[in-house]
Amino acid sequence: MSQMSVNTGHSSSERLASPDASQIDEVVATVLAAPKYRTIAPSLVRTLAMRELAARRSVKAAIKATKNKLHQVAGAYVEQRIDVADWLRRLQSHDASSPSAAPDDALVQAALANSRVAHLGESFVRASLDLMARHASTRERLPIVQQFYADIFACLPPIRSVLDVGCGLNPLAIPWMPLAPNAVYHASDIDRAIVDFIARYLTLLGIPGSVEVRDQVSDPGGPPVDLALALKMLPVLEQIERGAAARLLDALDASFVLVSYPVHTLGGRRKGMGATYERQLEALVAGREWEVRRFIFPGELAFLIRKGSRQSWKSSASSC
Ligand SMILES: C[S@@+](CC[C@H](N)C(=O)[O-])C[C@H]1O[C@@H](n2cnc3c(N)ncnc32)[C@H](O)[C@@H]1O
Repeated sequence: MSQMSVNTGHSSSERLASPDASQIDEVVATVLAAPKYRTIAPSLVRTLAMRELAARRSVKAAIKATKNKLHQVAGAYVEQRIDVADWLRRLQSHDASSPSAAPDDALVQAALANSRVAHLGESFVRASLDLMARHASTRERLPIVQQFYADIFACLPPIRSVLDVGCGLNPLAIPWMPLAPNAVYHASDIDRAIVDFIARYLTLLGIPGSVEVRDQVSDPGGPPVDLALALKMLPVLEQIERGAAARLLDALDASFVLVSYPVHTLGGRRKGMGATYERQLEALVAGREWEVRRFIFPGELAFLIRKGSRQSWKSSASSC
């Protein structure tokens, strides 16, 4: 199941000015020594270190700037470090009462109605909800998670394969995804701790697929699938390198791509983000023969893109 790979990802760094190799190594080593960043793919740390060294006056300033950027694109979303062994214990402990952060009975019952999940029991679902609340993106989606996937899958033909890029903890939402029986799930992220945990989670769920550490800036894409998920990812990639969002959309070998954007900042401010992202998405699909359907949920704006003619929409209903 766990088909881990760490890309060296030098392609985007070749375009940068080349500071002294020992300075680059020093920035990379110092950043990776920090507990908060030690599970981030070294290739991304190197890309950022080279860019910051080229733009700053000292190694110290480049270390600080590299950490800041990593905080923006990854660290800010996970408040506590991921302890894979502890998280697995929580999923497997059969105490239904202990995790209480998201005691939503309707959500629990909906997950238990999924034959893939029923045998794992209520304590597993409650622990999953509790863990989803530990990553900002899944935490924000919790109140709408069931509606989100129900509305989107209502427009799709049977989905037999999914690729979740920059997945965070979104694979923990599989219990609410109306996937075809025997569907496979592929997931990748820049954070090895997330990837390790998701590999174990998918094994517990008994869902086949693969997971990998992959930098979607230097090495966009993944295996061919019916549906690719790039949830709240495009702004993150653009923060790392302009043009990275367009490269990802082009690289994804998927009949459908679901892109989403947050409609408020991590701090809760709105700042007209919906309109801004709507324009960004329009620019990304302009000139391409892709069909786009738009969904507005509280807190999240989603666009379902049909990339080619391989598969059709399930329904032409206006809600789709
Ligand atoms: C905004 S969160 C979205 C998480 C998830 N897609 C969701 O919506 O629940 C961004 C995620 O992208 C990951 N990430 C950041 N930079 C990345 C990159 N260059 N390649 C792949 N993943 C990246 C982070 O570790 C984080 O889990």
